[in-house]
Amino acid sequence: ELVTNDPEHGGTGPGGIDSAGMSSAGSGIVPDGLGLVADAAVVVENGRIAWTGPAASAPAADEVADLAGRCVLPGFVDSHSHTVFAGDRSAEFAARMTGEPYTGGGIATTVAATRAASEDALRARGTALVREMLAQGTPTVEIKSGYGQDVATEARTLRIARELTAETTYLGAHTVPAEYADDRAGYVDLVTGPMLAACAPHARWIDVFCEPAAPTAFDEDEARAVLRAGLRAGLGARVHGNQLSAGPGVRLAVEVGAASVDHCTHLTDADVDALAGSWTSGGPRPDRGRSAHTDRGQPADREARRPVDGAWARSGTVATLLPAVEFSTRSPYPDARRLLAAGVPVALATDCNPGSGYSSSMPFVVALAVREMRMSPAQSLWSATAGGALALRRDDVGHLAVGARADLTVLDAPGHTYLAYRPGVPLVHQVWRNGTRAV
Ligand code: NIG
Ligand code: FE
Repeated sequence: ELVTNDPEHGGTGPGGIDSAGMSSAGSGIVPDGLGLVADAAVVVENGRIAWTGPAASAPAADEVADLAGRCVLPGFVDSHSHTVFAGDRSAEFAARMTGEPYTGGGIATTVAATRAASEDALRARGTALVREMLAQGTPTVEIKSGYGQDVATEARTLRIARELTAETTYLGAHTVPAEYADDRAGYVDLVTGPMLAACAPHARWIDVFCEPAAPTAFDEDEARAVLRAGLRAGLGARVHGNQLSAGPGVRLAVEVGAASVDHCTHLTDADVDALAGSWTSGGPRPDRGRSAHTDRGQPADREARRPVDGAWARSGTVATLLPAVEFSTRSPYPDARRLLAAGVPVALATDCNPGSGYSSSMPFVVALAVREMRMSPAQSLWSATAGGALALRRDDVGHLAVGARADLTVLDAPGHTYLAYRPGVPLVHQVWRNGTRAV
């Protein structure tokens, strides 16, 4: 089985998924089929997909890798992680499992450890985590700073992150560090001034933890100032929003044209409407992200949703759900089906970090999405691949149409449903990145 996420394949050949398998059929979030091809072949040339289709009609190739009927997926796109840090918070996790709530207060523990760590130690940890992700089928990962919260440590974190991925995010506004507890405005000035200047050269995105319910995170006005400064510096916007309460994060993300708002655990009807509206209203929105966008891999009814200028992917804000956080904080899961029913594109990511959820596994996230959030296996797979790409405004990853990067995740399983059907089992058999076998 080959899963292309490619609308051109239409999706419903023998062994493919039909619309009856899509529990939100008609909502327009994922194609009616994933572009499944049975007994398939992929031709790779210069690191890109050159051809996909039935093996029986494949063009000749110089080298052949026989995958013996295993399922081939686009490599997962993990669009949200915090994988450059030092220290350990397993005691905080253990306390939560016996009833302590998650408040974000533990972030200060990781900030202290990260400031004290050597550059080599930070690099070693980040490298190990990115390798761990790759081994679980994730060749594309976004990495945020946010455990430095001073100019030197934020910049160091992003320099290291930049060695590991092109998708780097400046999150100086993660929380207000203790030394600025009585001068929040001073910290926002630092984040939007000298810290931004030092970090922007190493970052593609800016992010902020907008959560009035967490005393050390940022309120709406502070978060707006942070995002606007980032946009002015040429970064694209993303937001940590609505994690602990139905706060202003989603609203603000849509207002500034953020590519994604992440967590979305507590949403009002107005939040859901705003997210859906960001994909239908068209019109110019701030978008200073640094890569080109196209409409590849979009919902099947994308024609109806396409803004007048044709740049479907440019205008909307993706809802990125991080169910490994709810798992690890023992919180209620986000209402994925409400978002899907409203026509909001949903991405799934790990949020891999030492506090709220320390899993690097996209297969685990997919299993949670299916079991705990009642997304169908097909919706979950779309969200973990094409959805993540959309959240990063990337058209070259997350699908296997001709021209895409040859990032392939091969499962030791006959179909993608096995990701949720066999949770916790190491099904990832091979990973190819840019057309080269990496695992
Ligand atoms: O995405 N919510 C804010 N930040 C991280 C958690 C950080 C931590 O607890 O160390 C998150 O969940
Ligand atoms: Fe996060």
